[in-house]
Amino acid sequence: MGKIAVITGASSGLGVELYKEMQKEELDEIWIIARREERLKEIANTFGKIKTRVVPMDITLPENTERLKSLFETETPDIRFFINNAGFGIIGNLDEADYKKQGQMVDLNVRALTELTVIALPYMNKGGCVINICSIASFVPNARMTVYSSTKAYVMSFTKALRYELKKKKINVTAICPGPMSTEFLGVAGIEKGVSGAFDSLPYCDPVKTARGGIKAAKRGKCVYTPRAFYKFYRLLAKLVPSSLLMPFAKT
Ligand SMILES: NC(=O)c1ccc[n+]([C@@H]2O[C@H](COP(=O)([O-])OP(=O)(O)OC[C@H]3O[C@@H](n4cnc5c(N)ncnc54)[C@H](OP(=O)(O)O)[C@@H]3O)[C@@H](O)[C@H]2O)c1
Repeated sequence: MGKIAVITGASSGLGVELYKEMQKEELDEIWIIARREERLKEIANTFGKIKTRVVPMDITLPENTERLKSLFETETPDIRFFINNAGFGIIGNLDEADYKKQGQMVDLNVRALTELTVIALPYMNKGGCVINICSIASFVPNARMTVYSSTKAYVMSFTKALRYELKKKKINVTAICPGPMSTEFLGVAGIEKGVSGAFDSLPYCDPVKTARGGIKAAKRGKCVYTPRAFYKFYRLLAKLVPSSLLMPFAKT
């Protein structure tokens, strides 16, 4: 088995755009992961120039982590890109929330991302990239997306520390931090017009440009990529101004 890219959450939204971007790389195979098998097959048939392996699975289930680990052990691939993209959010006050859904969010955005990265690392070599899809929600805590923004703060911290660890192996780790994008994410999160002043008024990021810019930044060895000047400025502001002062504006 040769050089591969692995993308989680490739059945919709940003994941599809990341898959399309990967077609430009020198890879022997691309592995795409999500729960909806038919969607993955359709995407591979429509956009795949490079041989694609559809790996339908719920990555929060421990038996599936084990399945993927065994697949890596059998195939011994050289993972050039490992892209942790699968994730979801929920809007609303936590004292009115469904505890199971909040837990599932932590399971996917944090635990699955962590476990999958750990099982992928033994198959990564010099020049390889771990790419974590993070969010502008990692810059300042977002009230009404309390758990979501906390999971993304974890992803940012995880990215920075792992990047430091892997410097000696010359493996790069990048966090891509988009603002709102018009994908299935909004429906899953319960965000429709009128629900959130922030989502109604903030500028939206284009998933195509986000995927393109993010992959380019990762290949250049950047730690964080944020699309749009507006959000680049927000990131800078979040470094300079205490979060307690920014939080009223960051409320979703
Ligand atoms: N859209 C935004 O406003 C926005 C902003 C900032 C950051 N982000 C981040 O961008 C990333 C991609 O989101 P998106 O906007 O492209 O949303 P999306 O269209 O809802 O895509 C989410 C993907 O994750 C997969 N997924 C969900 N649960 C899964 C599970 N348990 N196991 C395996 N795959 C699972 C979904 O596929 P299946 O349903 O087929 O499993 C889907 O392919 C996420 O990490 C999100 O937090 C999004």
